Amino acid sequence: MAKFLVTGGAGFIGSHLAAALAARGDSVRILDNFATGKRENLAAAPGAELLEGDLRDLAAVRRACAGVDYIFHEGALPSVARSVEDPVTSDDTNTRGTLHILIAARDAGVKRVVYAGSSSAYGESATLPKHEEMMADPISPYGVSKYAGENYCRAFAKCYGLSTVVLRYFNVFGPRQDPGSPYSGVIALFCKAAVEGTDAMIHGDGEQSRDFTYIDNVVRGNLLAIERDVPAGMVMNCATGSAISLNGLVRALGGITGKNIKISYGPPRTGDIKHSLANIDRARRVLGYEPSVDFRDGLSRTLQWYRTQGAAKTGPGAPVSQR
Ligand code: UD1
Repeated sequence: MAKFLVTGGAGFIGSHLAAALAARGDSVRILDNFATGKRENLAAAPGAELLEGDLRDLAAVRRACAGVDYIFHEGALPSVARSVEDPVTSDDTNTRGTLHILIAARDAGVKRVVYAGSSSAYGESATLPKHEEMMADPISPYGVSKYAGENYCRAFAKCYGLSTVVLRYFNVFGPRQDPGSPYSGVIALFCKAAVEGTDAMIHGDGEQSRDFTYIDNVVRGNLLAIERDVPAGMVMNCATGSAISLNGLVRALGGITGKNIKISYGPPRTGDIKHSLANIDRARRVLGYEPSVDFRDGLSRTLQWYRTQGAAKTGPGAPVSQR
């Protein structure tokens, strides 16, 4: 049986990956420091082993990588806005944390590391959709840190022959995305506002658009990135190939709930880009990836989860072993 390490496995994306692996019977270890991850998310992956530790601590990372076959490196400090306020902590976690994972993976003989890259690497170049041949040009500290992690993945493939794959995520959303922080993703915040009848704020005119990607598509992309032959260090977009504006998102939420959410408009956010849309041809070709849940369906499922959150948040799960 293959053993997987999911860094950030108590977080939104990591917990879905850990759940998918546990559901198919794989052995799962989670490394998380609970900076943004939640203990209740661990129940999604019954039987997973928890190693509580920080990516910035190389010794902890080495312990996490020992005996592991494959790594999904999801652990990071998310949010463009957070990185603008505190670039050093974002960089320490995202860049140095990734370097630690790669060093430990190399030394532990890990077979492949799949890295959670970010569309923020592209920055605000006017060309749409964004494809992997385009020059990266990140405009926020977050984007710089995630792109630096990519570069380390490529460098480790070249210098040490470590098999690495970079999936550039585009605005992932779905159940378990935390709506409780000012740095939360916009869909989590707006779903919470829709469910609770509270106000939501649009930064800018609401015409900025994103390739919002439902979590199941991202899980699928990651599993394929382990199963398929991929040239070492390859970068691939992981998204849907279609985009919607924030105003469109608000209308879609209104369509599903039958109620308009209360929106106010404020100044644009520093570090924000206007439009983000992926070309997903490379992932289609190399991985056989195809998004299976579209935006509307994903939004309905997500909203449903926020509605029933109290009861359905994690469900009963076997206790998680801790070392
Ligand atoms: C960025 C990255 C994404 C990454 C994410 C991690 C880009 C294009 N995307 O997402 O790949 O995974 O960071 O956090 O850089 N907004 C509001 N009101 C709110 C909250 C957000 O209007 O209450 C706006 C933001 O200003 C932005 C859009 O909604 O224009 C999306 O914001 P957010 O969900 O934070 O994600 P990005 O910054 O696009």
